[in-house]
Amino acid sequence: MSERAIGVFDSGVGGLTVLRELRCQIPDESLVYLGDTARVPYGTKSSPTVLRYAHEAAGFLLNRQVKLLVVACNTASAVALDELAKHNQVPVVGVIEPGARRALEVTRNGRIGVVGTEGTIRSGAYERALQAGRADVMVHAAACPLFVPLAEEGWAGHDVARLVAREYLAPLLEKNIDTLVLGCTHYPLLKQMLQEVVGPGVQLVDSAQETAKAVAVQLKEHQLLQQTTPAQPPRYFVTDIPDRFERVGGAFLGEKLQGVTTVSLEGI
Ligand code: DGL
Repeated sequence: MSERAIGVFDSGVGGLTVLRELRCQIPDESLVYLGDTARVPYGTKSSPTVLRYAHEAAGFLLNRQVKLLVVACNTASAVALDELAKHNQVPVVGVIEPGARRALEVTRNGRIGVVGTEGTIRSGAYERALQAGRADVMVHAAACPLFVPLAEEGWAGHDVARLVAREYLAPLLEKNIDTLVLGCTHYPLLKQMLQEVVGPGVQLVDSAQETAKAVAVQLKEHQLLQQTTPAQPPRYFVTDIPDRFERVGGAFLGEKLQGVTTVSLEGI
């Protein structure tokens, strides 16, 4: 079992920020990635729809005999993690719990900001995870839908991105937050600009980094750490033509993306 790959899925390129961290933190592990590019974005869709997509994406990876499943999408983690964990035999790791745990470690004044897609923020999943860890914490959440296309355009350093960020984050800064959870797979690409906008007094929490740490812990706990076989290069699958995924995904992955296979939606 430990020789098998880890399955990772997202609505598109965003989960590659998680995959990048996984490669960095557990380089001996083989990875299989599914980007559901035919149905991206998940962040604007209803919970039942995202739940159905998440079941199908997970099913595709489980059919490939993965030993652990990473839901590398905040929106899918927010609405589908419990269901996926209940119905599957392998450990399932989402991106919300690890980010929330880290935020509770770093906050000093107990005022935590959360930014994400409309679906993630509407679900209240971060509030629940944060308040389960510490009941008196104050959570201030904001949906920031324009961050996703800005990250995909590679516009993190443009003035337009800074203006948008100031607009979205002003209400959170007014609440005197000292910690900001980047609750969307795309936001690590905007990190530097966001840090400038919120200032040095606010600590950013990158859920991609925290998720990779959580995956390493789960592998160890379940005795699933790769023992012998050297890691295979990651395998990438998408549900629509791979051109955009390859082009945009390189920036999310931090290196050139190759060897992407298209699977039809009927096949997942
Ligand atoms: N991957 C999604 C998330 O982290 C962002 C993109 C989308 O809306 O599908 O919520």
